[in-house]
Amino acid sequence: MTDISSAGTFTLGDRAVNRMGYGAMQLAGPGVFGPPKDHDAALAVLREAVASGVNHIDTSDFYGPHVTNELIREALHPYADELVIVTKVGARRGTDKSWIHALARPELTEAVHDNLRNLGVDTLDVVNLRIGGVTKPSEGSIEAPLTVLAELRQQGLIRQLGLSNVTPQQLAEATRIADVVCIQNMYNVAQRDDDRFIDDLSSRGIAYVPFFPLGGFTPLQSAALDAAAASLNATSMQVALAWLLQRAPNILLIPGTSSVTHLRENLAAATLQLPPDTIVGLDLIAGSGKRALNQDDSIQEKEGAQPVQS
Ligand SMILES: NC(=O)c1ccc[n+]([C@@H]2O[C@H](COP(=O)([O-])OP(=O)(O)OC[C@H]3O[C@@H](n4cnc5c(N)ncnc54)[C@H](OP(=O)(O)O)[C@@H]3O)[C@@H](O)[C@H]2O)c1
Repeated sequence: MTDISSAGTFTLGDRAVNRMGYGAMQLAGPGVFGPPKDHDAALAVLREAVASGVNHIDTSDFYGPHVTNELIREALHPYADELVIVTKVGARRGTDKSWIHALARPELTEAVHDNLRNLGVDTLDVVNLRIGGVTKPSEGSIEAPLTVLAELRQQGLIRQLGLSNVTPQQLAEATRIADVVCIQNMYNVAQRDDDRFIDDLSSRGIAYVPFFPLGGFTPLQSAALDAAAASLNATSMQVALAWLLQRAPNILLIPGTSSVTHLRENLAAATLQLPPDTIVGLDLIAGSGKRALNQDDSIQEKEGAQPVQS
C-alpha cells in the first residue's frame, strides 16, 4: 500500500489533511446519476481510500442525487476523527441528468439538511458553495447565497466554508462575509486558467482543490504526459497528479475513480517525484510555460502547442 503521507499535508480550515485525497463523484451511475453499476465495488473504493490514509473526501448530495453521500455513509460511518468530508451545495439535478443552479435560500437550506441526513452527521466539515457553470466561473455577486451558508454555519450546521467555480473577485466579495478555507475550480496540467489565483491563494494559506485533475469526463491525453510517464516508469495519470502536487503546496488532490485499481494507481502518485526538466516539458502542455521557464512568454506560447484533450 502506498504511503500517501509522503505528499505532505495542508491545513483545510482547522484540520490538517493529506494532500492526496479522493473525489467521490465517479461512484454514482452513468452521468453522475442513479446508483453505481456495482454497489459493492463502490463501497470497496471508499474503504480502500480511507485504509490507505485518505482523510479528505470530496462529495455532494447532487451526485446521484444522494447516491455518493449514501455510499460514503454506508462504507465509512461512524467516521474516523481525522476524516474531513467536503460537500457542496448550489445545484440540483433535472430528471434529464442536467445540472441546475439551486442558490435560493430555501434550496440551500434544504441542501445542507439533505447532506447532514445522508452523510449521517450533525455538522458538515466543509461546505463549498458552487457558483458558475459546469466547468467555468462567471462574474456576479455571490453575497446572497453565501450569506445563507454563513448563517447556517452560525447555527452550527457547518464547520467551514469554501467556494467552487469562482473568480478572484468573487473570493474578495466572499471574504467580507465569511472565512473561506478552500477554492474548488477546474484545473489540471492542460487547463491552467487559475495559475495566478493559485499562487495568491497559496500566499494566503487557502487550499486550492482542482476538480477534473485528470481531465474529468474526457481524460487527459498528451504526448508530453506519455513521454514523461515512460521516462519515470509511471502512468500518464500518475504524472498528471504528481505535477499538481509539485505545482503549489496548497493544492489538495481529489482524483475521482470508481475502480480500486485506478485508486491504487492514483494514490501511488503521492510518491512520484518529477525532475525539474520533466516539469519544464509538462508546463508546455498548456501552452504557457511561464512559471517554470520564467522567460519570454510569447516564445513559450509558440513552443507550447501540444496535442492535448481535456
Ligand atoms: N466543483 C465542481 O463543480 C466539480 C465538478 C466536477 C468534479 N468535482 C469533484 O472533483 C472530483 C474529481 O473530478 P472527476 O472525478 O470528475 O474527474 P477526474 O478525477 O479528473 O477524472 C475522473 C475520470 O478519470 C478516470 N480515471 C481515474 N483514475 C484513472 C486512472 N488511474 N487511469 C485511467 N483513468 C482514470 C475515471 O474513470 P474510472 O472510474 O474508470 O477510474 C473518470 O472517468 C470529483 O470526484 C468531484 O468530487 C467537482
